[in-house]
Amino acid sequence: MGEIKIKKITYLDTFPVRSAVLRQGKPIETCFFLGDDANDTTHFGLFDENNLIGVASVFKVKNENFDEKNQFQLRGMAVLNEYQGLGYGNLILDEVCKFVDAQKAEVLWFNARENAVKFYQNFGFSVLGNSFEIPEIGTHFAMFKYFVV
Ligand SMILES: CC(C)(COP(=O)(O)OP(=O)(O)OC[C@H]1O[C@@H](n2cnc3c(N)ncnc32)[C@H](O)[C@@H]1OP(=O)(O)O)[C@@H](O)C(=O)NCCC(=O)NCCS
Repeated sequence: MGEIKIKKITYLDTFPVRSAVLRQGKPIETCFFLGDDANDTTHFGLFDENNLIGVASVFKVKNENFDEKNQFQLRGMAVLNEYQGLGYGNLILDEVCKFVDAQKAEVLWFNARENAVKFYQNFGFSVLGNSFEIPEIGTHFAMFKYFVV
């Protein structure tokens, strides 16, 4: 294992990891998320030397379940299969939380796959409400964390 670094990347850079982990066997166009190319969207990549092994993206999107004005949505959180369970997900989430904190975020929210709920709970996120289905992807739970401004 080489030097681990997290850097800002473009949405196109995220596609190989999104594709391998979150859109397996699906066309590459399915790796594009609405708003990926917006000015207020930020993409993070975790590198082992020059290899991109994990990604996450932060969108300036409001969830109507929260009254707070300054909300961010986490999307496309993924670590390559062979690197999972080694702490990289935690490193990426740390960086995302620092980033939204610096933007004076009041809430960070996202829709989590049910298999990842424990991972986020470990990190201090809470589940909001009941599970729901996202077509072709599976069962999800809305999750969130408040930030102190
Ligand atoms: C979910 C994911 C991003 C987590 O990244 P990771 O690098 O594997 O996680 P880490 O190694 O940093 O794990 C951090 C902690 O969460 C735990 N954890 C990780 N994945 C978990 C899971 N699926 N279920 C339960 N606990 C999990 C780890 O045991 C670790 O616990 P510890 O801090 O007590 O040791 C990654 O496994 C992944 O990409 N999974 C497939 C895609 C996915 O589901 N993405 C989320 C979409 S919402």
